[in-house]
Amino acid sequence: MTQMERYEQIGVAMTCRGYAEYERMFDLDEPMLRRGKVLDVAAGASSFAAEARGRGIDVTCADPRYALSVEQIGEEGFAEIGTSTEKLAKLAHRFDWSYYGDVERHKAGRIQSLNLFLQDYAENSARNRYAADLLPKLSFPDDTFTLVLCSHFLFLYQEQFDDAFHRAALAELLRVCVPGGEVRVYPLLSLRWEPYPGLPELMAYLEVLGGMCELHKSALPFIPGSTDMLCIRKK
Ligand SMILES: C[S@@+](CC[C@H](N)C(=O)[O-])C[C@H]1O[C@@H](n2cnc3c(N)ncnc32)[C@H](O)[C@@H]1O
Repeated sequence: MTQMERYEQIGVAMTCRGYAEYERMFDLDEPMLRRGKVLDVAAGASSFAAEARGRGIDVTCADPRYALSVEQIGEEGFAEIGTSTEKLAKLAHRFDWSYYGDVERHKAGRIQSLNLFLQDYAENSARNRYAADLLPKLSFPDDTFTLVLCSHFLFLYQEQFDDAFHRAALAELLRVCVPGGEVRVYPLLSLRWEPYPGLPELMAYLEVLGGMCELHKSALPFIPGSTDMLCIRKK
C-alpha cells in the first residue's frame, strides 16, 4: 500500500454508525439483543442505542466524549462526517461499496445517524444512559451486561494503543459482562487494514480470565479484508 493509499488519522475520530450497521458488523438479531442489558463501548455519536431503545432494547453507552455537551458533540460529529467523506472519496477504489452504494449514500447515512444520536443525547431522560468512561476502566459493576459491543476502537487504533492497553481494555469488557454473556469487537484490523499481530496471545490471555474466544464472520462489507469479529463468551 502506498503512503497515498492509507486512511490517515490523527487521534481517535468520533464516528456515528447506525443500528443497521451494528446489526451487520456484529451479526445481531433482536432476540439476542432482548436477552438482557446491552453495553456499547466507545459508542461515540452512534445512533445504535437510540434506535435500539426505540425497539424496546435496553442499551447503555460508554465513551469519554460524553463529558461534552450536545452542541460540542454535534459540532465535532458533523465536522468528522465532512473530513471522513473527503478521505473516503480519495480512497473509494479500495473499499467494498456493496452495502453502502457510494460515498454520498454513506455520508447521508452518517448524517441521519448523528441527528438521531443528538436528539437522544439531548433528552435528560436518556442522558444517564451515556457514561463518560475511558477504557481501560468502566464505571459499571461486575456482571452487568448480557452483550458488550465495541465498534471501531480496539484494534483499529493499534498504532496508538499498545498490547497492555488492549489486554486491560478487553479484560474490563469481560468484567462487566454476565457469565453466559458475550463481548463482541469489530473490526480486527488497523487503519492500515493490517491484522493485530498480538491477537493469538491476547485470546490466550482472555481464556485464562474465563473468556472463550472465537472469530466469527461479520456481515458488513466495506473495509478492505475485514471479514471477522472477535466474540468472547464469558464462562
Ligand atoms: C471511531 S469512533 C467509533 C464510534 C462508534 N462505535 C461507531 O462505530 O461509529 C471511536 C470512539 O472511541 C472513543 N474512545 C477514544 N478513546 C477511548 C477510550 N480510552 N475508551 C473508550 N472509548 C474511547 C472516541 O471518543 C470515539 O467516540
